[in-house]
Amino acid sequence: MSRQRIVDVVRDCLSGSPLLLAVSAAATAQRNSRSGTSCNSDERLHPTTRAIHADSQKGTRGPRASPFDHSLDVAAPIGVSTTFEAMPGGPCYSRAAHPTRERCEAVLASLEGPAAEALLYSSGQAATHAALHHLLADRGARRVLISGGYHGTHQALDQLQALKAGQPPGPNASHAAAALGFKIVQLPSEAELLAWLSAPWSLNESDSNDDLVRAGDILWLETPKNPACEVADVALYRLAVNEAIRRAALRKEAGAGSKADTSSPGGAGSAATRAFVVVDSTFAPPPAQVGLLNPETAADLVMHSTTKSLAGHSDALGGALLVPKGASVSTSGGQSSDQRTVYDALRTQRAALGSVPGSLETWLLLRSLRTLHLRVERQCDTASKLAAWLDGSGSGNSSPGASQSSQGRNAVVATTPDLALKSAPELLAKVSHPSLASCACHAAAKKQMALYGGVLAIELRSLAAAKALPSRLKLFKDATSLGGVDSKAEWRWQYDKQVPRGLVRLSIGLEDFHDLQKDLAQGICEVEREFPPEQ
Ligand SMILES: Cc1ncc(COP(=O)(O)O)c(C=O)c1O
Repeated sequence: MSRQRIVDVVRDCLSGSPLLLAVSAAATAQRNSRSGTSCNSDERLHPTTRAIHADSQKGTRGPRASPFDHSLDVAAPIGVSTTFEAMPGGPCYSRAAHPTRERCEAVLASLEGPAAEALLYSSGQAATHAALHHLLADRGARRVLISGGYHGTHQALDQLQALKAGQPPGPNASHAAAALGFKIVQLPSEAELLAWLSAPWSLNESDSNDDLVRAGDILWLETPKNPACEVADVALYRLAVNEAIRRAALRKEAGAGSKADTSSPGGAGSAATRAFVVVDSTFAPPPAQVGLLNPETAADLVMHSTTKSLAGHSDALGGALLVPKGASVSTSGGQSSDQRTVYDALRTQRAALGSVPGSLETWLLLRSLRTLHLRVERQCDTASKLAAWLDGSGSGNSSPGASQSSQGRNAVVATTPDLALKSAPELLAKVSHPSLASCACHAAAKKQMALYGGVLAIELRSLAAAKALPSRLKLFKDATSLGGVDSKAEWRWQYDKQVPRGLVRLSIGLEDFHDLQKDLAQGICEVEREFPPEQ
């Protein structure tokens, strides 16, 4: 055992439980394996290559040690063991570390970019909870700014808020309980942010209450947003967060910070010196939207429900957080002496809360990541074409780089006379997909996304028609969820009372475009005959 390793082990023994020791050892081993022997996560390789090779361990392979040695397998072995024989640097217990999970995380991190580390969770909800819990308990966040989006995120916030009920923040409350006294606030729109950024402001600490974004804020951006696929301009929200941090620092420097009242969540005098951008990128997995941890957008955390496109076959629940490599929990200007990395803090939290994915689900995810690019490219392409056809604006731009089609509705009708959807404009009130020039978010999507996503939403003028449509389609499954190889249609209001009642969410799978087009055409015509538009 090297001297450094002995020092690490002694430090961990002094600071924590055997499980924390295992978490820390596994994190170190993982980092060593990534920097040393795993030659194929090389960022010069194309992401499609990294999806297949980022977890390979060519540097370490030697002669097959025994019939049980899997080091020469081409496919990752299905490893279900929850516990492991003792070996320095090896896994100990699967809640702390599991070989398949380490492999899968290496691949997922490599897809986001060289600046990322990945952590897997038992579900998207568990990943959301982990992100919020970490920012509130470890990083001094005091407010969560959020607007609409996936209803489960609001449920997770409600659960966290309930924690403070029995133990109001105060001098005797534990650090975590005090930290959890947080507020939920409406996320400002982009127009409001622009106005705020250009308005005058003062160094008075009390005026920070008027700031739209403040130190201590978490900006929770779901983009594209469930279910109507609006895109948030992450770089603009980052700018607002940077401005909030700058103002907090200047006010502190001006002396007002000395009257700090840290017991007031998010209020004047809050000791918070950081603010955070979290992106739920579930609707735009790699390669549709990557690089969110890069300097321009500089998200603090990126979250995915891996249940959707990443696993992609409607058979494995899971979630993920992507973290900037090397980011530390304590930040410049902060009071904390905590020098852990964000990645280590989240890993420790995950082991303590037990929110790890099962080993079989993890294996399915790893297997699916190998084909992610093929699947997502195809889904996004078909979704863009269907959106353009339904919107009547032509054959559609399938990717932000593609030029606007000159074909109009007539051209689509001419090439597919049986799909003329003659009465559809009357029934269809709205088609939403970031690829459509008619969508307000199109410009932001063009700037931020490589592909426009595999989900679109249509709004029907008849509530009864919207309710009936999913069951009248033959290829689209009348089911919730998205990102699978199978297309799905869902009358969304049944799950989420905040969305328009006539909205049907379409998740596009890997079926042929023309087959899906025909299926939608016949379904829409059928429900239109049965349930004409309501007046
Ligand atoms: C945008 C978004 N975020 C988070 C989640 C939660 O993910 P999971 O169902 O894997 O817990 C979902 C699930 O539909 C989602 O659509």
